[in-house]
Amino acid sequence: MAEKSIIQIGMIGFGNVGQGVYRLLEKNRSLIEAKVGAQMRIKKIVVRDLAKQREVSVPEGMLTTNFDDVVSDPEIDVVLELMGGYEPARTYLLDAMRRGKQIVTANKAVLSVHWDEIIQTARDHKVDIYFEAAVCGGIPVIQAINDGLAANNITSIYGIVNGTTNFILQKMTEEKKSFKEALQMAQKKGLAEADPTLDINGMDAAHKLAILASLAFSKRVKVEDIYVEGIDRITVQDIEFAKEEFGRVVKLFAIAEVEGDELEVRVHPTLIPEDHLLAKVDGEYNGVLVTGDFVGTTMYYGLGAGSKPTASAVMSDLIYVGRSVHDNVAGEISNCWFLNDNPQIKRLKKMGDIKSRYYLKFTVLDQVGVLSAISRILGENQISIASVIQKEQKKGDKVPVVIVTYEALEKNVQEALKKINGLPFVQEETLLIRMDRGE
Ligand code: HSE
Repeated sequence: MAEKSIIQIGMIGFGNVGQGVYRLLEKNRSLIEAKVGAQMRIKKIVVRDLAKQREVSVPEGMLTTNFDDVVSDPEIDVVLELMGGYEPARTYLLDAMRRGKQIVTANKAVLSVHWDEIIQTARDHKVDIYFEAAVCGGIPVIQAINDGLAANNITSIYGIVNGTTNFILQKMTEEKKSFKEALQMAQKKGLAEADPTLDINGMDAAHKLAILASLAFSKRVKVEDIYVEGIDRITVQDIEFAKEEFGRVVKLFAIAEVEGDELEVRVHPTLIPEDHLLAKVDGEYNGVLVTGDFVGTTMYYGLGAGSKPTASAVMSDLIYVGRSVHDNVAGEISNCWFLNDNPQIKRLKKMGDIKSRYYLKFTVLDQVGVLSAISRILGENQISIASVIQKEQKKGDKVPVVIVTYEALEKNVQEALKKINGLPFVQEETLLIRMDRGE
């Protein structure tokens, strides 16, 4: 079959990222086309509202509100899905693959939840599916895990994979901004999801971890398998305590780690030492440490969100797909390894069975017997105290008492906190931050 000289793209969604892709192709067209060996042409763009004001203007007739204009057009080779969310994105992707279109998507939500169905459909219909931009914006971490480290047994992934929460935590740390103010700043920068709850409650990071872990460990990890906690209970006071008293910073960590034949997968705020490699990953930057049995520890760092970095990742996928369309080998070589279940991982570890050190902030009345009651319950649950801090306050006020524990079993800590939270002098639910990584 003759080589294709024009690769035609149908884009779905023309928001921040879509417009970034359009601009990138305009700016670096000659470089990109030289790499593909063919012209790259965006033929149609599906949008919700034709009249909406956009920063990028496109030729007359390129925008449409009808997905069918893309999927039924035999000239379109690649469907680029940038609309996000579960539906109609899932239906559009499946439909496009069934009609033989190659796929590039940045949609972590639909991929992480409908992974099996989407990947199987790609295989059944022999089409390429690339999704570098779904995880960590401009950082080529999917490619690193999928290709560069493919020969390794991956043993762990620790990542800061959500730019919004990382930006919020930095503003709270350095500028003492309240959580709410910092969130508004993140939204203004275009980092946050359409629904920022997904950033704050850790679900966006969980979507990304599900994809990373499934690829890295050749084991299907579902979003619901992941223990998830967000950053909404972290205060400026905790950030200051952690820094001044323990030399640590708070990061929302996505963790996947093998222990024996079990894999633990979790997303939660974590206190890491200030000199940890990931402690310097600030603002909208993301950072991921991946350790493999032969390669050792590798690190990936860069902008994890925003129009230009995400467009960079999308375009790299389009170059891959463009090349395979050009060479008539699209769909011939699977880019996903994970479907073969990894025999070395028997199960996912239960959250109660993980071990960690803990930062516990009790908000209590300042009265006789409080510390001894708390420490007795901790002791009864095999939790050993490493340090205690109480800052003196005006008499009669509630005070924060921070206890840092030695390594303890999560289920023992949860059991102890249940009892402690029921004590009459405890004024607020105790805040727990794990501080288990980076020793
Ligand atoms: N809301 C996401 C973040 C965008 O803040 O990281 C990139 O996936």
